[in-house]
Amino acid sequence: MEVIILSDAAQVARVAAAVVAEVAARPNAVLGLATGSSPLGIYRELAAAVERGALDLSTTRGFALDEYVGIPEEHPQSYASVIRGEVIEPLGMDPALVRVPDGRARDIEAACDEYEAAIRAAGGIDLQILGVGANGHIGFNEPTSSFASRTRIKTLAPRTREDNARFFDSVEEVPTHCLTQGLGTIMESRCALLVAQGEAKADAVAAVVEGPVTSVVPGSILQHHRRATIVVDEAAASGLRLADYYRWTYAHKPEWQRVPPLV
Ligand code: GLP
Repeated sequence: MEVIILSDAAQVARVAAAVVAEVAARPNAVLGLATGSSPLGIYRELAAAVERGALDLSTTRGFALDEYVGIPEEHPQSYASVIRGEVIEPLGMDPALVRVPDGRARDIEAACDEYEAAIRAAGGIDLQILGVGANGHIGFNEPTSSFASRTRIKTLAPRTREDNARFFDSVEEVPTHCLTQGLGTIMESRCALLVAQGEAKADAVAAVVEGPVTSVVPGSILQHHRRATIVVDEAAASGLRLADYYRWTYAHKPEWQRVPPLV
C-alpha cells in the first residue's frame, strides 16, 4: 500500500488525476468509477485535461462501483445520473462504454451476475477509483461485508443513509438498498486508488491503512490489494501513526516511479 499525504484537497485531486490519466490513456483501459464527493476533484482535473486536448477518454471503458435501488434512473441522485453528469459528459467518455449496475432490474441477482460478466468480458478493471465512508465502507460494502463478495444487493447502514442525506431533501428519501461491486470484485482490479479529504475521514483512513484487516472496516481489505494507492490531505491523514514515514517515502520516491503531472 502506498500512502501519499498532500497539503490539501486540490493537491489530492491533481496527483490522483495524474494516476488515473496514466492508466486511462492506455488502449482499451477500463476504469472503475466511484461516486460521492471524494473523487469529484479527480473528475474536474480530468475534464480540464480533456478540454485542453491533453487527454482523450473517448474509448475508455468504465464500470460504476454502485447504485441505489428504488429510485428511478432519471432521479438526479441515481448514480446513473451522477455518473452521466459528473463523469461521462465532462470527461468526453462514450456513454455506450460506461456501465452502472441496474438498480431497477426486475431480477436483481441476474443483473448483478451480468454486471460481473461484463467486467470480465472487458478484461477486468485496470484502475478502481474509491472513496471511503466514515464507517470504513468502500463502494457500498458496509461493515461485515464478505471479503469474497461480488456485485450484489446490500442494505445501507443507518450511518451511510445519514451521511448521504445531504444529497436528498431528507434522510427518509435516501434509499434503504443499493447494488455494489463486492469486495472480491474490487480486489481483482489491477490498481486501486482511494482518495479522502477532511478530518471527518481521519478515523476511517487510519483504520483502513493501519488497523487490523477486518470486515468490520471493509476498506481494510485493501491492505491485501496487489497495488493500492491511498491519496489523502493532511486533515484526512491526521489519525495515521506512520504519517512521517509516508511523507518521507513520498519525498524520496525515485523519479522513475513518479507519475508525471497532467499538463
Ligand atoms: C458513498 C459511496 C461511496 C463513497 C462513500 C464516501 O455512499 N457509495 O462510493 O466512496 O460513500 O462518500 P463521500 O465521498 O461523499 O464522502
